[in-house]
Amino acid sequence: MLEVRDVGYIYQGKYQSIEALKRVNCHFAAGKFYAVTGPSGSGKSTLLSLLAGLDLPTSGEILVEGCTMAAMDRDKYRREVASVVYQSFNLFPLLTALENVMYPMELLHVSKATAAETAKRLIGEIGLGEKTYQQFPVMMSGGEQQRVSIARALAAGGKIILADEPTGNLDSANEENIVKIMKNLAHEKGYLVIVITHNPNVCEQADAVYRMRDGELRT
Ligand SMILES: Nc1ncnc2c1ncn2[C@@H]1O[C@H](COP(=O)(O)OP(=O)(O)OP(=O)(O)O)[C@@H](O)[C@H]1O
Ligand SMILES: [Mg+2]
Repeated sequence: MLEVRDVGYIYQGKYQSIEALKRVNCHFAAGKFYAVTGPSGSGKSTLLSLLAGLDLPTSGEILVEGCTMAAMDRDKYRREVASVVYQSFNLFPLLTALENVMYPMELLHVSKATAAETAKRLIGEIGLGEKTYQQFPVMMSGGEQQRVSIARALAAGGKIILADEPTGNLDSANEENIVKIMKNLAHEKGYLVIVITHNPNVCEQADAVYRMRDGELRT
């Protein structure tokens, strides 16, 4: 589903440039749960942001179902195909949980009634009840917020979920729960799920683990 071919990425600053990725090759299949791990600064988040279509590689290419990202409408890709979940949840603080999950559908001009219905179903699927609908993020626990942000990522209907240390701020019970949800999405619903993690327990649950070091993939 996603193929990374000889990908390099250089952050070009005014006085210095940093080579964050060096000829990375790997691929990711639908229906699988992947972990990307490695020391701080090894290029994990950079790789994820390229997979998310936030920027293009400086060299090499990323293919989405055989099409090079460089030739794609990346705004559309980000809206409709790939969603990112962050460590800090990044929910909109002034919207309720339900409104947060409805938001991506509103961008796609889905009717309000349909969006609400789908959002309620997604909130149910990630294991939260009706009382969550009207809660604002500040009133929810970290684990609950992360589950809502997963529901929001699912709301756009894309089949790729990218997560940058999604359990980094959670205790181990919540971490287990989030990993279980992500694994289920891959194995039961056919999503491609890629999770950056420092946590060996999360790696253990993955179908495949990519290890990075100094911008390179180690196998
Ligand atoms: N916006 C930026 N501008 C310049 N250099 C950057 C930028 N973001 C990251 N880098 C550099 O690129 C390299 C890879 O960073 P990246 O954020 O991908 O690492 P990471 O593996 O996600 O680390 P961490 O585990 O700490 O999140 C590092 O040397 C970092 O300093
Ligand atoms: Mg990072």
